[in-house]
Amino acid sequence: MSHPRGHTLLTTAIIITALAALAAGVVVWRLQARRPVEPDLPAAYRALENPLATDVSSRDNGMRLFMNKGCAACHGAHADGRGPAARGLNPAPADFTAGVILRDHSDAWLYWRITEGKHGTAMPRWDGVLETKERWEIVSFLRSLEGE
Ligand code: HEC
Repeated sequence: MSHPRGHTLLTTAIIITALAALAAGVVVWRLQARRPVEPDLPAAYRALENPLATDVSSRDNGMRLFMNKGCAACHGAHADGRGPAARGLNPAPADFTAGVILRDHSDAWLYWRITEGKHGTAMPRWDGVLETKERWEIVSFLRSLEGE
């Protein structure tokens, strides 16, 4: 009598273990899916997260900076890449309303681009021009354009 029962317990244990492993796999996969693959992002920036992500005022401050510190001249007042200084630039300034840039990139990546600029394009570096906090505020503003 004890044999079949032992087998049943063993089978149950194996099934539970398999399900737990599957669930753990799904969790890891989901966590990885949330962070886009960004081979160009320098190692020093990889672990960065926006310290102001939950600060509601950072988005408005970021918008003011975007309008007043020169971003809008190229990227446009609507962040669509059509600012008055965009004429003739190749590549054209990034259009943040198209959704692709924000969807495919982390806050750390946006922060890196703003901080160091983009080689071979008109995108200047803002390190030393805007404070660290101001650069994150602009990231908050850009992120808020997602889904609009
Ligand atoms: C002189 C024009 C100019 C100014 C001023 C400017 N940008 Fe840019 N920006 C560009 C160009 C050109 C690119 C490159 C677009 C590309 O490579 O497709 C770019 C790229 C970027 C990117 C990376 C997007 C990508 O797809 O590569 C971010 C983020 C960005 N700009 C944010 C800003 C912010 C924030 C400011 C203000 C603090 C700013 N830019 C000011 C012209 C400008």
